Amino acid sequence: MQVAATIADARLAVGRARAEGRRIGLVPTMGALHAGHVALVEECRRLADFTVVSLFVNPSQFGPNEDYDRYPRTLEADLAKCEAAGVDLVFRPTADVMYPRGVPSATFVEVPGLSHVLEGAVRPEHFRGVATVVLGLFEIIRPDLAIFGQKDYQQQAILRRMVADLHVPVAIVTHPIVREPDGLAMSSRNIYLDPAQRQGSRALWRGLEAARRAVAGGESDADRVRQILRAPIESEGEAALDYAEVVDAETLERLDRIAPGRPAVALVAARFGKTRLIDNARLTE
Ligand code: PAJ
Repeated sequence: MQVAATIADARLAVGRARAEGRRIGLVPTMGALHAGHVALVEECRRLADFTVVSLFVNPSQFGPNEDYDRYPRTLEADLAKCEAAGVDLVFRPTADVMYPRGVPSATFVEVPGLSHVLEGAVRPEHFRGVATVVLGLFEIIRPDLAIFGQKDYQQQAILRRMVADLHVPVAIVTHPIVREPDGLAMSSRNIYLDPAQRQGSRALWRGLEAARRAVAGGESDADRVRQILRAPIESEGEAALDYAEVVDAETLERLDRIAPGRPAVALVAARFGKTRLIDNARLTE
């Protein structure tokens, strides 16, 4: 496994692989790798011949009161997991490499509309930070395909829109959510939960499962589905609900009715103490 910290070294390694005719796959991450990330890497290895993982805690996607400073940084363990998973190249730039002029003076890419609902309503600059760093990574690595998790549903929807609007020649692949045995979606932030919060966090999955069952059973009134989705989270003492929404799977527009031919997704966010968790489920395909 090669490890590059500079753009020149990363381009050299990728350039050699491309010269050998290999198909390049990229899995962007912020490190603190868990089994969800590893599943993305495994999918990348199935779809590509040269798998690149980026490890970069991107400062521009954290708000002023968010956890940038305390975000877990576990480089040695991350490198060991990448090696074990068969990664070909790890790209681990520093902030000066990704933001040569510093974040306050950086050029940003904005995906309007989609970026300011749901997560974007409470994290106003989050998605421009995500879109910008991912576009930068695409320009450095020039992957044929890139894999993102459905866990961050809005993120993959925004990145799909970005590459379509900017004609970026990369295929975006969305990998299903990897969960703990009790249903909690794996996240680098789960380690912040105390035992009572960890127990309470199951309410997210319970709400999503109940919503999915209701729709499978014929419920088509989106408000009714929102109520079903919300109920277990609202009755969980450890949780403070931020939103429980039912939206169009591509445009993220709020739906009134769930109808065939218009794929719908349920999304939830809740705070457990200082830790904010998000989760989602497709309601119809
Ligand atoms: P990070 O939170 O490290 O996640 C990296 C990738 O792993 C994302 O595509 C995310 O959706 C996926 N992922 C995380 N948990 C998952 C789970 N339980 N199941 C499936 N996939 C999961 O998302 C980011 O980093 C950043 O915003 C990034 C795209 C790297 C830009 O900085």
